[in-house]
This record gives sequence, structure tokens and C-alpha cells, in this order.
Amino acid sequence: MANIPVVIDNGTGYTKLGYAGNVDPSYVFPSCIAEPPPRSVKPEQLGDMDFYIGQDALDATAKYPDKYFTSYALKHGCIDNWDHMEKIWQQCLYKYMRCEPESHPVILTEPPMNPPENREYAAEIMFETFGVPALNISAQAVLALGSVDAVTGTVIDSGDGVTHIIPVYEKVVITSGIKHIPLAGRDITEFMFKLIKERETTHPDVNMKQEARKIKEEYGYVCKDIAREFQRYDADRSKYIKKWSGVVPPKGEMTWEIDVGPEQFLGPEIFFHPEIFGLEHTTPLPQLVDEVIRGCPIDTRLPLYKNILLSGGTTLFKNFRKRLRDDVKAIVDERMTLDWERRGGRGKPKDIEVTVEKPHNPQHAVWIGGSMLGSQEDFLEQCATKALYDEHGPSVCRGNVMGAAIFK
Ligand SMILES: Nc1ncnc2c1ncn2[C@@H]1O[C@H](COP(=O)(O)OP(=O)(O)OP(=O)(O)O)[C@@H](O)[C@H]1O
Ligand SMILES: [Mg+2]
Repeated sequence: MANIPVVIDNGTGYTKLGYAGNVDPSYVFPSCIAEPPPRSVKPEQLGDMDFYIGQDALDATAKYPDKYFTSYALKHGCIDNWDHMEKIWQQCLYKYMRCEPESHPVILTEPPMNPPENREYAAEIMFETFGVPALNISAQAVLALGSVDAVTGTVIDSGDGVTHIIPVYEKVVITSGIKHIPLAGRDITEFMFKLIKERETTHPDVNMKQEARKIKEEYGYVCKDIAREFQRYDADRSKYIKKWSGVVPPKGEMTWEIDVGPEQFLGPEIFFHPEIFGLEHTTPLPQLVDEVIRGCPIDTRLPLYKNILLSGGTTLFKNFRKRLRDDVKAIVDERMTLDWERRGGRGKPKDIEVTVEKPHNPQHAVWIGGSMLGSQEDFLEQCATKALYDEHGPSVCRGNVMGAAIFK
């Protein structure tokens, strides 16, 4: 496996990991770590290896709640705890990829507006702690576009911790145009969890938040129109109510069952009617998408409307693509008609094509783009090398290295 790049896409919720050239990541696990709780042990007692990552971390905390405390290394897409991140990377490279990092270039991904210092910290850890020969840190939106062989488009990246709208033209992120919504998958889970808890009278002794996430992933869908959906529900509840059941651990003898009701479509509605969540953020996603594109240089707008790309697990909701497309198109058409009327009906406007594309697996799109990047013949030219790092220090990664010729 010598010299094949390792691609690591660390998300707020999940890390996607594998060798470049594969069609899917080999490992997908929660970006968390379980350690003894702070203050419960003296530093000298804390073995360096006394930690777990990913699902093992969640299991360790469930089994020994007094001994292990789970925390996530990223917040809203950005690395928040470098010590934890380093430990997660250590296990990514040694335990999962079973590689000697000195012989594998690494591709990391970064969210929009990632502070340049974060790139430098990442470079320091990768080059100094792990001794990797080359490092590429690429914008997640550019990689997502790369996964469908595109270089221009408006990427809607909605994962676990944050939703971004990122215009990209010819592989360059139009930074001034980026907008974000501080809501994503975790908030939808939380909202659905609350609705279920309020309605259900039986509260089985299980991790109901995890169950709410599974319910969301299995049954969540975006409806066409929320008022009409409620009417349909009321007309024939039995047709729409789903049953969700399980057993109570650890013995698994007791079973439980709950109903899944309107939360199926109310959760995902966060993007289209954010005001029902009673949160500060109130601009619907389709309106933001339109604002983002209109805020970009005029000659980029048509291609940006024409290729709106979904990325991230939260875009997997059924009917998300169609509702987003229809709503953006309606906003564009309405504005065009108004303009036209204002001009006294002269010079009928040309139709603007609005296309929303959903890649084969939006949750892995960023990783897949990284995998394709790492397979390119000139990939190393798009990296900062260890030699350059040794000569110039972490600042070699200050700029976005993707495509930067200065590292040749
Ligand atoms: N079928 C599905 N329907 C709806 N949501 C889903 C589905 N499958 C996964 N998700 C949600 O997608 C989210 C994880 O997506 P993803 O792995 O893209 O996020 P991330 O990269 O960890 O986070 P971020 O990009 O915000 O840093 C979780 O909230 C998960 O519940
Ligand atoms: Mg992500």
C-alpha cells in the first residue's frame, strides 16, 4: 500500500476514512473520543492509551459511565479540541488504516471559513507527530463537486453540525458569497426527540435520542406543503403513523413500541420553515440559496443556479432535492416576473435553469472527492511536502493548498 494517500474527512458527527482510489470510505465512525473524565484522575495516572474513539468510545461510556466520558473533537465543522483530534488521527492511521504514516500522503478536508491557524495546527501534527511525506487540505465543497466531476456549482453541505451554502467557480470558493445556517442533522434529531418525548406516555429505558436519530434517518421526509401534509395526516392517521420498537438492554427481554407521527416531516421542515423551531434563525434555505447566488459575480450566476449540489448526510431526506429545486425555482421565477412587470412587460425574460443534483451518496461525497483527488497523477503537486514544511514551517499550509502551484 506504499504511497497511496489516506483520505480523512473529519465531520462534526462522523469521520470518513480510507485509501484514495476506493469508491467509498472503508470506515465511517462518530468523531468522538472516550477518556476518563477530567479531574477524576491525576495526570500521572492517565495512561496515554487509555482512550477509545468512534463507536468504541460510545460503547465504553455506555458500559462504564463512571470511568469514561465521551466528547466530540469538532464543533460546527471546525476542530475544537486538538488533543482529541490528534488521538483520533493516531487511531485512524495506526489502528484503522494500519499504515506507516511516514510513507503515505494524507488528505484532510476543511469546512468553509476554516481559520488559517487551524490549517497550520493540522500541518504541525501531521508532519511532526506522524511524519507524513505530504499533506493536502482541501475545501469540502470543492471535493464534493469533484466527486461528480464538476468544478463549478453551489454546494449545499448539510451534515451533523452545520449547513453551509458555498458557491464554487472553477474550483475556487467564492468566499464572500458563503452563507450558513446554524442548524443541521443533530438539531433535527433533537427536535424530533422532543416531539416524541412530549407525545409518548411510555418512556422505555433506552437511549431515546439515539432512537430518534434512527427514526429520523429511516422515516424522515420533506413534504410538499406542510399545511396539506397535516390535513392528509388528520384524514387518515393510521396510514401515516409508523411503529418503532426495540428491546430494553442489557437483557433484551422487555420490548417497547412507540408511534412515529408528524415528526417524520416536521423535523426536516427546519430548512423550509425555520421559524417553527422558535430559533433565532428564520430565513428558509431556498431563499438563502437564491441570496448566495445573487451575491456572486453576475457571469457566474447562471452556472451556479444550474448546478446546485447536495452534500452531507442531512440532504438524504426523501424529497429534499425536489422541494429545494421547486422552491428556488419559484423564487427566481417570481422575481423575474416582477421585474418584467416593472419594465412594463417589455423584453420577456429568458428562463433561468435551476437544477439540484444529489450525488449517489451525499454523506460520502466529500470523501469520494478526496479519494479521486488522491488518485490524480499530479496529486503530489497539490500537496505541501515534508521537505517544504521542514524548510518553511507550518505556514506552508496557511493558504488553501489545493491546486496551489507554489508547492511544486
Ligand atoms: N438517511 C438519512 N436521512 C436523514 N439524515 C441522515 C440520514 N443518514 C444520515 N443522516 C444524518 O446525517 C448526519 C451526518 O452527516 P455527515 O456525515 O455528512 O455529517 P458530518 O460530516 O459529520 O458533519 P458536518 O459536515 O456538519 O461537520 C447525521 O445527523 C445523520 O443523522
Ligand atoms: Mg461533513
